[in-house]
Amino acid sequence: DADTTFRNEPTLDFSQPAARDAMQQAVKTAQTRLDRQWNVPFLASSPSGPVLLSHNPAQPNEIVARIPAASGDDANRAVGASLTAWGAWRETTGEYRAEILIRAAALMRGRKSELAAWEVMECGKPWREADADVAEAIDFLEFYAREWLRQGVPTRLGRMPGELNHRVLEPRGVTVVISPWNFPLAIPTGMVSAALVTGNPVIFKPSERSSLIGLLLVSLLHEAGVPKDILIGLPGGPDIGQALARHRDVATIAFTGSKKVGIGLLRETATVLPGQRMVKRVIAEMGGKNAIIIDDTADLDEAVTGVVVSATGYAGQKCSACSRVIVHEAVYDIFVRRLQEALRCLRIGDPAEPGIDMGPVIDARAQSTILEYVEIGKREAHLIEDRKRLSSGWYVGPTLFADVKPDARIAQEEIFGPVLAVMKAVSFDEALRMANATDYGLTGGVYSRSPANLDLATRLFDVGNLYLNRPITGALVARQPFGGHRLSGIGAKAGGEDYLLQFVTVRIISEQT
Ligand code: NAD
Ligand code: ALA
Repeated sequence: DADTTFRNEPTLDFSQPAARDAMQQAVKTAQTRLDRQWNVPFLASSPSGPVLLSHNPAQPNEIVARIPAASGDDANRAVGASLTAWGAWRETTGEYRAEILIRAAALMRGRKSELAAWEVMECGKPWREADADVAEAIDFLEFYAREWLRQGVPTRLGRMPGELNHRVLEPRGVTVVISPWNFPLAIPTGMVSAALVTGNPVIFKPSERSSLIGLLLVSLLHEAGVPKDILIGLPGGPDIGQALARHRDVATIAFTGSKKVGIGLLRETATVLPGQRMVKRVIAEMGGKNAIIIDDTADLDEAVTGVVVSATGYAGQKCSACSRVIVHEAVYDIFVRRLQEALRCLRIGDPAEPGIDMGPVIDARAQSTILEYVEIGKREAHLIEDRKRLSSGWYVGPTLFADVKPDARIAQEEIFGPVLAVMKAVSFDEALRMANATDYGLTGGVYSRSPANLDLATRLFDVGNLYLNRPITGALVARQPFGGHRLSGIGAKAGGEDYLLQFVTVRIISEQT
């Protein structure tokens, strides 16, 4: 039963002294291990690029870690080494590889607080969010291991006498994983483990803003049994991602990040280079400009809470975050007032402390981009709430704009911070039209007690993940497979049953008997 039934990893309950003390201790331990140069294993040596510095977003003077990064030459060598190593890895059985994933999940489970504490320090995640990210990473390992045991076996097709047809799934080849920093463990764990369990060698380039967590993931997977030349971690910035993606011998690129970079990768990898033997497949999970609709029948207590959680969780730095609220005119004024009050109650501060609702944003660049959007918003709409920033750290207070026009930049562009644009609609139909009027199609939500409106939303709200009467973040592996369409992404839903098929070639073998 334990081998076949998937269950989501429970998150820690920090109201319990044991969990709280363990996390407090892990944060303290991490704080005593700051500013060290970490060893990055790379093909019997170390990468030859510059050293990347991770700063603590809540205390920018604090260097969390120094991570040696890769050079362009390293990227080329990594692809060559992966190709050579692949032969032996693809001969291993699916069971063998699935067991490695299950072992990695067990290792992560044993190190939950330690991993979460490093997320607090390197990425400024509040405790609950950091713990949820570790739990999701465990879920991906457990889920993809089980899915491959179920799907990775040859299947007989049809029952025609005298004919034997089999479908077999084979790995595509060298897979490059390029990940963002906002779910620094879960997202790369999902992409890397999916590629590995299906028999591919992986070169993983974490975000340069979460290089340490990336390195911890690589060493944990090595410890669980993945050979060092089958999973190569290559810390570095966009140049390394680009060098890997452009390489002739790369078959698959699993990318999660911004629309701009994702679309650029799709364009660049369309060119077939001399000697290239596979059309590159790009799986690109990109941004969102997600809306919640509040109609005139909604439970406003629930709606206010749901919007606050969805818009300010991890300071709005989730692709799934709510950044637009579309409110029926009958409840508009009261809703905006109550939302403003709720935003004022948030505890903002250094996430190393327990009980913080909102910490800083990831770095100075993000802070200045978000503040530029706040200035744009002041010209486009009515600024209702702009909680002052804390003096140190890369903080941006929750910011609320009302009376936003649907075509305003703050209603169309992904800001990736705690900035909310509220819009007024005269009817549910108009609200749906506004909700659908962006390039993106990732998440969306509706608060309503009207079965007719909920039904209309189910049919017409054009997003990959639609949530009714609940927050729009926090999708769970297997229960809410996650991913968008339109310009939010191309690829199967992460944490769903179709995901692994993207990493394989399907072959059909027919034999006359
Ligand atoms: P980003 O696009 O700036 O960077 C993502 C990764 O791509 C990083 O590792 C970066 O180094 C690399 N990169 C940058 N330029 C590159 C290039 N030219 N070639 C190859 N690699 C390159 O995104 P980010 O700031 O790290 O993450 C935030 C974005 O990710 C937001 O837009 C968010 O919506 C999106 N996101 C989407 C999902 C999803 O599942 N749809 C999940 C999380 C984040
Ligand atoms: N899977 C993440 C969420 O749903 C992005 O919030």
